[in-house]
Amino acid sequence: MKCAAIVAAGGSGSRLNPDTPKQLLPFGGCPLFLWSVNVFLKVKRITEIAVAVPADRIAQFQQAAQGIPNILWATGGVRRQDSVRAGLRATSSDLDVVLVHDAARPLITPQLVDLLIDTAHQYGAAIPVTPVTETLKAVLHSRVVRTLDRSGIFCAQTPQAFHREMLQRVFESVPPEQNWTDEASMLEFLGLPVAVIPGDRRNIKITYPEDFQYAECLLGQTSKE
Ligand code: CTP
Ligand code: MG
Repeated sequence: MKCAAIVAAGGSGSRLNPDTPKQLLPFGGCPLFLWSVNVFLKVKRITEIAVAVPADRIAQFQQAAQGIPNILWATGGVRRQDSVRAGLRATSSDLDVVLVHDAARPLITPQLVDLLIDTAHQYGAAIPVTPVTETLKAVLHSRVVRTLDRSGIFCAQTPQAFHREMLQRVFESVPPEQNWTDEASMLEFLGLPVAVIPGDRRNIKITYPEDFQYAECLLGQTSKE
């Protein structure tokens, strides 16, 4: 089986740092986006890694990744889905499974990636999810309207894995003007099934400065194991 990983690193990271995109910031000794790239390099079935980066920073990313072989560079777009699409275009068409991953999630493991590949190979699409642990409130005009039933509600993580051919068709079929926060939601829109596997609570998405600090703490723990 041949697989590719697409790393979405085309955002500006405005909620974390207005000057430098978060995926370029040093994290545990190397630029943040290289953590997931390095995990994908360890997974034997992954034969291609495409990284979508902001158009005006390609040289900076290439410099940061010096010495890492065979990265396929793609020019990111305005929205996440545009960056992912550019990454998909950079990969070969004869691949079985592609994984789409947020560069903002550095703490993935080869075990999670392998299970996603196997599950997507079997079912067409697979995503990691974790149960919601906090009580959910609907709020309007600074007042609680009601408490939502959280049974059956999960948080979606990346990587998300798909048969390559199907993901290609999905991108061609969904309304392009709509904003999609992940690829699984495009499949749901088209009525296509998406399987779930248990996510990893350490696989947090770094969005705000506190998330960055928390991820660094988790990194310290992981490396001691
Ligand atoms: N992403 C991307 N292309 C975009 C926007 C986002 O590839 N046009 C990527 C980001 O680099 C990140 C992932 O999608 O790895 C998840 O997005 P998010 O956490 O929202 O990152 P940013 O959009 O960069 O941050 P912000 O929304 O705070 O500006
Ligand atoms: Mg964003």
